Amino acid sequence: MENIILVGFMGTGKSAVGQLLARKLGRSFVDLDERIEKAAGKPIPVIFAEQGEAGFRKLEAEQVREAARLKQHVISTGGGVVLNEENVRALKASGIMVCLTARPDVILQRTLPTRSARPLLAGEDPGKRIEELMKLREPFYARADITVESSDRSIEDLVDEIMQRTKKDG
Ligand code: S3P
Repeated sequence: MENIILVGFMGTGKSAVGQLLARKLGRSFVDLDERIEKAAGKPIPVIFAEQGEAGFRKLEAEQVREAARLKQHVISTGGGVVLNEENVRALKASGIMVCLTARPDVILQRTLPTRSARPLLAGEDPGKRIEELMKLREPFYARADITVESSDRSIEDLVDEIMQRTKKDG
């Protein structure tokens, strides 16, 4: 009865998919970004502004260590969680890691309305930034046990596929 851990780039639907997946499986849902904000007592853009990305990554790693102790949860993570090898190891040891992917144009559309909440996309050309970051991160996302493409698909459809493909582990 392992955790199901959702990783993937910003805007791939990790939180929405994670919430519905948890509801359908009757499991508890944990959002790591929310836990980081709660523990720090401030929103992510403020953490980045005050402590830089390195400060944020430290807080993120602390929350990963906590979350990796959970059992039978659905855990949604921030897009950069896979950049830290210790995070990947701890999360994979606690369950099955599912990576959601999407095309860069889809990511741009999905993240535009909430861009101010994502410091890494705050620059002048978010489209270009998305493509650059995606390329850099590809090998890290490839560590997941299962990959599910989310472009042009409903949350329900994605949840059904993840339920099917994780059945033997769930
Ligand atoms: C980040 C993604 C964000 C959040 C932070 C850094 C990243 O989470 O953790 O802004 O490095 O990709 P979402 O993937 O939920 O947007």
